[in-house]
Amino acid sequence: MTYPIRPIGEAEWGAAAAVLQEAFGWRPSPAQDERFRAETEFDRTLAAFDGDDIAGLTAAFSLTMTVPGGRQLPVAGVTAVSVLPSHRRRGILSSLMRRQLADVRERGESVAALYASEAAIYGRFGYGRAASQLRFGIRTHETAFVPGAPHDPALRMRVVTPEERRADFARVFASVVTRRPGLYARRSATWDAVLADTDADQRGAGPLRAIVAEDDGGVRGYALFRIRPSWDEDGLPDGELQLRELFAADPAAYALLWRGVLDRDLITRVEAEGRPVDDPIIALLADARRLRARWSDELWVRVVEVDKALSARSYAAPVDLVVEVEDEVCPWNARRWRLTADPAGAECKPVEEEPDVSLPVAALGSAYLGDGLLVAQLDAGLLRERTPGAVRELAAAMTWSPKPWAGLTF
Ligand SMILES: CC(C)(COP(=O)(O)OP(=O)(O)OC[C@H]1O[C@@H](n2cnc3c(N)ncnc32)[C@H](O)[C@@H]1OP(=O)(O)O)[C@@H](O)C(=O)NCCC(=O)NCCS
Repeated sequence: MTYPIRPIGEAEWGAAAAVLQEAFGWRPSPAQDERFRAETEFDRTLAAFDGDDIAGLTAAFSLTMTVPGGRQLPVAGVTAVSVLPSHRRRGILSSLMRRQLADVRERGESVAALYASEAAIYGRFGYGRAASQLRFGIRTHETAFVPGAPHDPALRMRVVTPEERRADFARVFASVVTRRPGLYARRSATWDAVLADTDADQRGAGPLRAIVAEDDGGVRGYALFRIRPSWDEDGLPDGELQLRELFAADPAAYALLWRGVLDRDLITRVEAEGRPVDDPIIALLADARRLRARWSDELWVRVVEVDKALSARSYAAPVDLVVEVEDEVCPWNARRWRLTADPAGAECKPVEEEPDVSLPVAALGSAYLGDGLLVAQLDAGLLRERTPGAVRELAAAMTWSPKPWAGLTF
């Protein structure tokens, strides 16, 4: 059975949203539903139809994402992937993925990225696990900084109302967005979502709160969080602070904001979801074990056009190799490419020569933003190295610091 695929019109939003809500078992509030609709790019929202009814869905945001070296690349931010429970495992997702990747290529985007609801879904479509995150569960009384942590006497911490400081937050974020691969530029609708504060957004954890680090020249960083106050059975304070995000333009502002979060009265736990794996707080804490970090995957990346994608980023070390790419879903990638790059620039062009390494396109996706998985994949027997040392050479060039992290689910 086939399920024809086409973009939906605005009038079909309700039907498409119903499929998504059924697949995820999610019931948005009217405000969340409206925000989601406002963010939707309808010409990029593809539905698979069973007769007149939508049976499956995938959508994309036109993101601008930082790649290693700081360039901001147009990237398809894949989202809203859902198939009705009555239609699952009939190949609808597979046909939506193929169609979407062809559309992404046609638009001239060389990379697609997504957050996966389950890590086992997207590898078959050529996505590789490209970024990681840590969840911190910190007990606040165990959080002294190392000696020599930065301190700037000109800086002050100020409590502010989030919505009133939206422009300051946006300025700080824009000043750091190119510093880490994976961060993506925010539009007004993104800030609407970050600052959303209805009952449904609060989920019992109270209103969104904010502190800024500022000096006479203006705001140098901000933290957004919610607080869940409580007292234990002995009457002792046992509140939880849920950190939503913290961005700072410089280390002293960063340290001051973390102290503002960790030293908050009546708080015994800070829950920080989705922090980078090389978050500087790991270096600042005298006892980093106290972060009680839990790892999980973050972004998944799909290289849609090998040559355009590989020549758009920077490389940490020189590399000159022929890479044979295996790609059944995007056959235009399945060939041999010579990657010649050094920290000054990169070129990637099709060649016929013998390859130094053969790899599935998902392996390139997982290395694309700088996560260092290639050697692990070689050691796991997932890549074929034909010239000894070729994978190490490729990994040394592609691995990046700071580590990739998008920091905000799309
Ligand atoms: C995940 C989902 C989109 C899959 O849709 P689907 O139409 O059933 O997928 P397909 O029939 O095209 O499956 C393609 C392949 O992926 C596999 N697959 C599908 N979902 C999978 C999952 N959750 N975990 C592991 N493998 C999965 C299928 O077994 C199939 O494998 P095969 O080619 O070896 O037979 C659908 O089950 C769904 O909507 N789930 C709930 C919402 C969700 O998690 N969405 C993803 C958001 S990131």
